[in-house]
Amino acid sequence: KIYPVILSGGAGTRLWPLSRAVLPKQLLPLVSDKTMLQDTALRLAGRPDLMQPLIVCGNEHRFLVAEQMREVGIKPLGILLEPVGRNTAPAVAAAAHYLQAIDPDAVMLVLPADHVIADVDAFYAAIVRASALVADGALATFGIVPTGPETGYGYIKSGEALAQGEQCFKVERFVEKPNRETAQGFVDAGHYYWNSGMFLFRADAYLKELAAFQPAIASAAEQAVAKDYRDLDFCRLDEAAFTACPSDSIDYAVMERTRHAVVVPASIGWSDVGSWSALWEVQPGDAQGNVTRGDVYLDNVSGSLVRAESRIVAVVGVQDLVVVETNDAVLVAHKDQVQRVKQIVEHLKDKD
Ligand code: GDD
Ligand code: MG
Repeated sequence: KIYPVILSGGAGTRLWPLSRAVLPKQLLPLVSDKTMLQDTALRLAGRPDLMQPLIVCGNEHRFLVAEQMREVGIKPLGILLEPVGRNTAPAVAAAAHYLQAIDPDAVMLVLPADHVIADVDAFYAAIVRASALVADGALATFGIVPTGPETGYGYIKSGEALAQGEQCFKVERFVEKPNRETAQGFVDAGHYYWNSGMFLFRADAYLKELAAFQPAIASAAEQAVAKDYRDLDFCRLDEAAFTACPSDSIDYAVMERTRHAVVVPASIGWSDVGSWSALWEVQPGDAQGNVTRGDVYLDNVSGSLVRAESRIVAVVGVQDLVVVETNDAVLVAHKDQVQRVKQIVEHLKDKD
């Protein structure tokens, strides 16, 4: 059986001012009329062999998460609550321990809560392909054909083809977030994929690798999953144990180091919607290439994303802009420079 594990803990700072600590991007309706978390859960609902999802999120988001699932008629297997964020390696480890207690043969499908996948059938087919590879302890990732030297992704060099022909490969090398020059080298070389950040593996296989490379995370996560909470809707991770856990991502902690990684290339219309320009890209625009939402007036505008949350926003005579209005903050940026939105959030944090 495959258990989807939805990671819903990030802050999505590059989508400021809409995405905030109290209401991060995965809990917002950014792309459709559903929130990204709802879309993530609904995407795979009812597919054969897939169980109800286990959601891992910050304690402060528990009611929002539960309410959003109720709204779309999904009853999660459980909601694991982190007292503090410790990045993805501990979150996945806690989920692995939780699942193992229910099903010693649990296979986990790790899903970030904030990705867009246009071709769900192709995605499901990739999951089925991956599930044929993990019985002996392999850790499968889903590889995306790179479109440029993005530095915010992990890069996977595919090696020897596995039995299934051209559809899956051993991972020869995994490099998390290379610098631009290195990333360009990978793209030029070919045979490199982006790591989608979605994984499929047996819970015990992940824990075994984690114990080998980051034993402190493995044991802190094990201590943090209290046995007596498992029957409840919310499972609160033990505060002392989880707070003491080192912080690391699954990519640095395990995927870069393991020798058991395999990659399943997935042509699925994937985007991690990491920035306003990415959000503009994944949505169909009007004839002038504008994507709008809310009460917006445009005159002689093209290639822009304009979003009004609480007031009327009028934009005249410009190209390739991002304009996002919210209750208490407004962003105006060139579409090519939206990566720098992250610095705004840093700046505002320093000010408090
Ligand atoms: N529950 C929980 N707790 N979730 C978390 C935490 C945490 O402490 N930290 C991050 N997440 C969630 C985020 O919300 C996101 O959905 C997912 O885990 C991945 O975390 P990111 O912080 O967005 O990772 P990244 O974008 O820097 O890099 C990862 O994703 C790329 C693709 O989008 C890596 O896996 C890269 O290799 C990959 O290319
Ligand atoms: Mg991300």
